[in-house]
Amino acid sequence: MSAAATHDDIARFNFLANFNKYMATAVAPGNAVAFRERAEPAWIRQQGEAPQTRSEVRRAMAPDPHYRFWSALRRCGMEMRQQAGRSLVLRQKESLRDRARELNARLPSGLRLDASIKIPRYQSELDNHCMPGSYYAEYIDADVSAAANYDAGMFATTTGLFGRYLDGAGRGTAAWLQRTRPGWQPKRILDLGCGVGHNTVPLARAFPAALVVAVDLAAPMLRYGHARAVGMGVDNICFQQANAEALPFEAQSFDFIYSTMFLHETSHVALRNIFGEASRLLAAGGVQVHLEQPPYRGMTAFEQFMRDWDGYYNNEPFWSALHETDLPRLLIEQGYSAEAVFETEIHAMVEDEMPKVGVETEDFGRGGLWYACGASSQGAST
Ligand SMILES: C[S@@+](CC[C@H](N)C(=O)[O-])C[C@H]1O[C@@H](n2cnc3c(N)ncnc32)[C@H](O)[C@@H]1O
Repeated sequence: MSAAATHDDIARFNFLANFNKYMATAVAPGNAVAFRERAEPAWIRQQGEAPQTRSEVRRAMAPDPHYRFWSALRRCGMEMRQQAGRSLVLRQKESLRDRARELNARLPSGLRLDASIKIPRYQSELDNHCMPGSYYAEYIDADVSAAANYDAGMFATTTGLFGRYLDGAGRGTAAWLQRTRPGWQPKRILDLGCGVGHNTVPLARAFPAALVVAVDLAAPMLRYGHARAVGMGVDNICFQQANAEALPFEAQSFDFIYSTMFLHETSHVALRNIFGEASRLLAAGGVQVHLEQPPYRGMTAFEQFMRDWDGYYNNEPFWSALHETDLPRLLIEQGYSAEAVFETEIHAMVEDEMPKVGVETEDFGRGGLWYACGASSQGAST
């Protein structure tokens, strides 16, 4: 389903992937030096003590030339990535649409669109991570170009840390489930905010007898995601247009519910509604788990400041609040006991030739090591 790329498109994305890697491994570490050797001593001279919070670190670092250089380059990298993706997909939006239509038609029961779904304000008021038109914009009838752009650029943005098919989180989650619940076969799986299904496909493959329902607000993502899954030979996913805050499913109808990189794009109220829905829909004996970058709790003020960059400069207005939110507490507020709620780490599983997450490849917010928070429901599994 992917967009067809010319030599020049490929060269541009190769440059971006390596540029981002160089930024993460060679340029970003200079911020710690700048802080230690310039910004922190200057702050201490003025204030009489070291910066205590990430907001104070931010104020201390704001005038630093290395920080400004890194930050401006990182933003330019994201802008270039969007330009590269859009120059690739917009010129072939009709052929991409036609290809998606053809693949969608091969398994019509796997795609349920609902034109009555309204895009909530926390999505409609901004271009998520500087992506013009965000996930849902449509330039032609049955457009998939927003999704094709998202798919084309993710590898460069994450420098290979999510794997060749960008499915490292889903593969890691399937392996974690198989390790922590050996032999368990969930019958119905729900993926919230599935996007183009990068991390839905590996779950569907790991549990081929399960029906996987993948919900998203954005029709282009669903059309493309469904076409991509059909093209990959996966036929047990139903891509359904719905708002994860109010889902059209009966209580306790899913054994496994999960989300990846989804919650940080939702508002304060939406996050609580989504946890309410996930908890309502979880069947007895089931488990829900949500993957995000790690919360700020327990991190130094400097690391929090570095990880908070997206909240200021990458059009991620809910990023800071999500990483400050006590997600286990929110699940307990849904009625789970403290024992039923857990936090863990899930490693992205990537092909041997792909880079692995490590200190040297951590990019403060785009790593392949996921923080996971979830809850198990009481009772025998069905
Ligand atoms: C960063 S993408 C995550 C994609 C996917 N989970 C993955 O792992 O590749 C976030 C997705 O959440 C969707 N989304 C945002 N708010 C939503 C909501 N309230 N209900 C359903 N989907 C939503 C967006 O349309 C977008 O496709």
